[in-house]
Amino acid sequence: MVHPAPFPRLTALAVAPCSRPLTGVTRVPGDKSISHRALMFGALAVGRTEISGLLEGEDVLATATAMNAFGAVATRTGDQRWTVDGVGVGGLAEPEDVLDLGNSGTSARLLLGMLASHPITAFVTGDASLRRRPMGRVVEPLSRIGARFVTREGTRLPLVVSGAVDPLPIVYWLPVPSAQVKSSVLLAGLNTPGETTVIEPNATRDHTERMLRHFGARVVTEPEEAGGRRITVEGFPELTAAPIIVPGDPSSAAFPLVAALIIAGSDVTVEGVGVNPLRTGLLECLSEMGADIALVNQREEGGEPVADIRARARGLIGADIPAERAPRMIDEYPILAVAAACARGRTIMRGLAELRVKESDRLSGIASGLASCGVRVAADGDNLIVDGDGDRPKGDALIETRLDHRIAMAFLVLGLAARKPVRIDDGAPIATSFPGFIGLMSALGASISEEG
Ligand code: S3P
Repeated sequence: MVHPAPFPRLTALAVAPCSRPLTGVTRVPGDKSISHRALMFGALAVGRTEISGLLEGEDVLATATAMNAFGAVATRTGDQRWTVDGVGVGGLAEPEDVLDLGNSGTSARLLLGMLASHPITAFVTGDASLRRRPMGRVVEPLSRIGARFVTREGTRLPLVVSGAVDPLPIVYWLPVPSAQVKSSVLLAGLNTPGETTVIEPNATRDHTERMLRHFGARVVTEPEEAGGRRITVEGFPELTAAPIIVPGDPSSAAFPLVAALIIAGSDVTVEGVGVNPLRTGLLECLSEMGADIALVNQREEGGEPVADIRARARGLIGADIPAERAPRMIDEYPILAVAAACARGRTIMRGLAELRVKESDRLSGIASGLASCGVRVAADGDNLIVDGDGDRPKGDALIETRLDHRIAMAFLVLGLAARKPVRIDDGAPIATSFPGFIGLMSALGASISEEG
């Protein structure tokens, strides 16, 4: 098993208010969702899958380690280049030791789906953040397929899963809009006879469906009569290794792009960003807020739409963000809230219940962080209301990041636009999804430093 050199652990970070515009052309690391899936589906395929642009963040490396524990061979062959020698659907071996998935909810939920229809037993745990997150949302449907679980109180990690010997196909209505739950059930369906169906009332990211088709599985997506979409996978497909090009992660690109929008005179282009329409809710919101954002050089790479995105600073105005958009931008609310704090007028972000069960309770983390930076903010049930005056926020605050990479990065961006420095108590979680974040922001003109 080969791993890249460990990433430096960051600690407390301080960001200085920007005194000059951010400028430049850059690239962000590979898409986290697609990277996890490339490794997992590569492990379930027959043959060698070649991946370029893989995100080498801690979350994805946890998935790579787990795939090796299942008997597949995931190997780093160069910068962001990996190969996976798969074992084929039904071929997963029982891991010899506990699988520690660190901070990664996607690893945990998707892996449980893979395991649910393989007759093996695995012990799964994670860091303090992941051990707090709800696993009942996958344990419930996977139990219907026939997997057995022993979990901690509240259906949390650590847990033990014993996959079904004779898995049963199910039709499952997603009770929460979650691509992780959808993917978990579809993955279980691969080693299950017949057809396994997930019905989602509100469309979530479809990287699983796209990539399974790319590997040769039969996956049918059709409109559901009662609204939403019905996704069906046929069991026992011959998954065949296929090359994967991972586009830049739009959820990571969001940080330098919003920074450019809120720092006067800035002009930043992020090249090669995934613009799958089920991931671009943030761009719609920013356009409604009056942002100057352009998608150029739009193309398709490896079955996913990709573009270069250029953002130029311009005064933003508040907007009313509908709940239906949430699944298409679920990871972008921390940075959208920062944009809202710098806009003129009221921004209402509706229907954010799912934010409470992310790497941290993001609804409360955003609200308390903004308030400590002097921003007028209120959490009203599942809605977040931010009142900006179009001026730079005060800043002058120490933000608790609560093991949450996106809270850490969002408040560093706020600090760039603030009048006084902002500090975050722990920058280490940034390495889960965006290794190189500080170097990239510094190259654009930001000043972020480690505190001694
Ligand atoms: C992900 C789905 C989302 C997202 C997460 C990645 C995925 O989670 O927040 O960062 O790769 O499927 P939910 O499915 O829980 O909304």
